[in-house]
Amino acid sequence: AGPSGGGNIETESSAGSLLRSTAKLPEPFTVPLPIPAVLKPTDRHNLTQRAAQVEILPGLKTQIWGYDGTFPGPTIESRRGQQIVVRHRNALAVPVVVHLHGGRTPADSDGYPTDTIAPGRSRDYTYPLDQPATTLWYHDHTMDFTGPQVYRGLAGFHLIRDDVEDGLPLPRGEREIPLMIADRAFGEDGAFLYPSMDGMPGVTSEFMSGVLGDCILVNGAPWPVLEVSATRYRFRILNASNARRYKLKLDPPAPIVQIGSDLGLLAAPVEHDDLTIAQAERFDVVIDFSRYDVGQSVTLTNRLGSGGTKNVMRFVVARKGSDDSRIPDQLAEIEPLSRSQAVVQRQFVFARNGPSHHGTTTWAVNGQAFAPDTILAEPALGSVELWKLRAQNVPHPIHIHLAPFQVQDPGRTATGWKDTVDLSSGDEAEVLLRFDGYRGKYVFHCHNLEHEDMMMMANFRVQ
Ligand code: C2O
Ligand code: CU
Repeated sequence: AGPSGGGNIETESSAGSLLRSTAKLPEPFTVPLPIPAVLKPTDRHNLTQRAAQVEILPGLKTQIWGYDGTFPGPTIESRRGQQIVVRHRNALAVPVVVHLHGGRTPADSDGYPTDTIAPGRSRDYTYPLDQPATTLWYHDHTMDFTGPQVYRGLAGFHLIRDDVEDGLPLPRGEREIPLMIADRAFGEDGAFLYPSMDGMPGVTSEFMSGVLGDCILVNGAPWPVLEVSATRYRFRILNASNARRYKLKLDPPAPIVQIGSDLGLLAAPVEHDDLTIAQAERFDVVIDFSRYDVGQSVTLTNRLGSGGTKNVMRFVVARKGSDDSRIPDQLAEIEPLSRSQAVVQRQFVFARNGPSHHGTTTWAVNGQAFAPDTILAEPALGSVELWKLRAQNVPHPIHIHLAPFQVQDPGRTATGWKDTVDLSSGDEAEVLLRFDGYRGKYVFHCHNLEHEDMMMMANFRVQ
């Protein structure tokens, strides 16, 4: 039987249909938070993409597809400007593509959606990593199958460090923790539920808006718990969900201090009561647990959730601790781009396409469904452009490969360098992009992975 209870909960906050687990889900905050394995800086890494049976729900086995058979994959740590090669071996039965999200990468290593690694083959991806310290992530990017392949586990962190970050007195060591948030649904035997895996008829119309699960995983564990000392912690939060957005808030309330965004440290820290995080966005934050009593529990909640998806994870302040970390008033130097630098203006509308000849609806950019040979923009290498991005029908988080951008909306001044901008339905954002680095063909697309798989993607070619 296919998954049941796909209720359409398409709202302003998340676009998608909810899959309900038939497996017994654990009590929240009983499973310890896992920390992915770390691969230290070196000029070569070897990763194998393979299936593995892992225990996500206590007492049940889930088959994942993972980098080195783990979900999340290992965290790769690199230094700015030290080029690395990652050899990916595909031990899965399907073609795969690897994209380093946020990486300033030559086109032939960027993971173009049709540039697949066939089953049984390997491929070397070269990453110059000539960009400031930040939180990147790597994930599958196979044309038409990114949604199901990421859902099965093909996602991991890639951190870039540099001297600027090293010089700051931020929390580090075991008090610097990556948090990959992703929702999933599970069948009775513990298997991941995803519409296309279960041969559900009519899947494209019901789930074309996105797949939402009813179980929130952090670093691959359901509603986990982390014991902390009463000190500052740095968390690199990534929303790796296919279609779900979160509005994160601590309970009891405390400020979340943002120090970085998608592509690096901010100029200065920004205090938030809550954080709305769309798919693929990263927030580098510091939480100070010294404001709580030892023994207290602090829950990271999701104000956009309902039922079980209202909770994300819990921190338990287990002990006092000494803390010489600080959040400096100045973090990194960020050169602001100005509109006068933009040599070209372009507009892109992300909207639903009318029914195609098979009667299914797809998603499109400027009315065009993705086609590898259609180029919608040809920016010049080294130039700055102004792009107006508009979302229609439902929210769309828009991600642009290669070119970092600054969002011009005055309400979003402190966002720093970004690679993904979250747009509500009817919203328009103006972004100033810098096309530095490499020539060649790259994609930009909606990072709701079901929208992406259903054609909401387009090409630009840097000339
Ligand atoms: Cu995170 Cu084009 O992808
Ligand atoms: Cu979208």
